[in-house]
Amino acid sequence: MSQYRPLSAIVLAAGEGTRMRSGLPKVLHPLCGRPMLLHVMDALVALPLERIVVVVGHGAESVAKTLQERLVTEMPVEIVEQRVRLGTGDAASVALTAKGFDDDGEDDLLVVAGDTPLLRPETLAALAREHRASDAAVTLLSAVSDPTGYGRVVRDEQGRVARIVEHADASDAERAITEWNTSIYCFRRGLLAPALRRLQPQNAQREVYLTDAIGVLRDAGHQVSALAAEDPGEPVGINDRAQLASAEAVLRRRINTAWMREGVGITDPERTYIDASVEIEPDASVLPGSILAGRTVVARGAVIGPDTQLVDCIVGEGAVVRQSVAEEAEIGDGATVGPFAHLRPGTRLGARARIGNFVETKNAELGDGAKANHLTYLGDVEVGERANIGAGTITANYDGKDKHRTRIGRGARIGSNTVLRAPVEVGEDAVTGAGAVVTRDVPPGATAKGVPARVDEREPGEQEG
Ligand code: UD1
Ligand code: CA
Repeated sequence: MSQYRPLSAIVLAAGEGTRMRSGLPKVLHPLCGRPMLLHVMDALVALPLERIVVVVGHGAESVAKTLQERLVTEMPVEIVEQRVRLGTGDAASVALTAKGFDDDGEDDLLVVAGDTPLLRPETLAALAREHRASDAAVTLLSAVSDPTGYGRVVRDEQGRVARIVEHADASDAERAITEWNTSIYCFRRGLLAPALRRLQPQNAQREVYLTDAIGVLRDAGHQVSALAAEDPGEPVGINDRAQLASAEAVLRRRINTAWMREGVGITDPERTYIDASVEIEPDASVLPGSILAGRTVVARGAVIGPDTQLVDCIVGEGAVVRQSVAEEAEIGDGATVGPFAHLRPGTRLGARARIGNFVETKNAELGDGAKANHLTYLGDVEVGERANIGAGTITANYDGKDKHRTRIGRGARIGSNTVLRAPVEVGEDAVTGAGAVVTRDVPPGATAKGVPARVDEREPGEQEG
């Protein structure tokens, strides 16, 4: 009979993750641009929980900061610190010191490790449902696949869960068991607390194992049960970088499949890398070798790649970005970029603007239809609509001490190999000759030639002789 009890969750995320051999706490290692722990949190906040308590310890400050800054939820999330890492059982005890968990309340508690980033909310919901449908003191999520390194689920002659034995403590016969503990559980909170008080660190790792609570509850006469995960690849725990890479590949496939279902064209999903935080409209295409990272947004009909890396970029409708690298850049509707362009932060390209090969931009605003097709550096510059920047143009924006701005008016034509020594302004429809070194402002409609460039002023509309 199904029984409704309020449901909360605790997340164990205090471990150091020694096997990662990293200065970064394990739970902060990213998959598809998002820290491992936040993937776990995302799955939890998708459920109707009362609250979530996260146990932090190793790198407590940075883990807490990541949660505060990057987890989006209305759900109450509390952080408690496990100062000395005595094991998963101790971590669970620390979680229960959070306010509101100090009574022996009859609610249910999901217990999840912070290192299972592929876990989906559907699986957690199924675990809670299964738990509520029985009288079990705990229902654990198990999985059947290669169990190497994991705790094994030991069953009695009747096939009921008896206890969990850690890999390090298991006999050969126990190691032959292929059903393993995922470290994801649903406990009756009022029964977990007294069970935790009975745990002892008498094992190979001299740690207080949460897994021992299973045997303790069972020996006290409670029913303990297990639900086998439908996909044993989903609840995997990440302990080293090889496992991290395999899990990231699974997540990447999930993300790509979801975008394809939304109408995004992905030619080769195995060679397309889209962060969890990216947004893409239908009928955009992402070609092989492309990396879309951070808060990148790609509008309808845009074509990205092949071999393009976009970090925190906004790409307009129908824009084309080929074999290029861009960071914090806005690319307007119908603009084209590359091949082999480098757009640095502060680049804003208007509609139908064009950036060609071997062009680098930084703090550069180009108006609608402006073009810089070849071999150019545009830094700290405003380029008006339809202006054309000739091959080899350089904005000399740095005088060795300070950066200065260059302004190029609408419709101006900058000749090949022009150097614009900032601060300087080239007026609307003005022209610079090939090889000009422009050190002074060029009035609208005028032509500047030579080194240093001299201005040859003409009436607007007058033709060059
Ligand atoms: C644990 C289980 C094992 C299971 C496996 C599944 C125990 C004793 N073993 O092993 O049965 O098969 O997960 O992935 O529970 N943590 C703390 N404080 C501590 C120690 C750990 O918060 O003092 C956290 C870690 O940050 C981690 C989680 O608990 O997120 C699990 O710890 P970990 O050391 O990875 O356990 P495993 O050896 O993988
Ligand atoms: Ca683990």
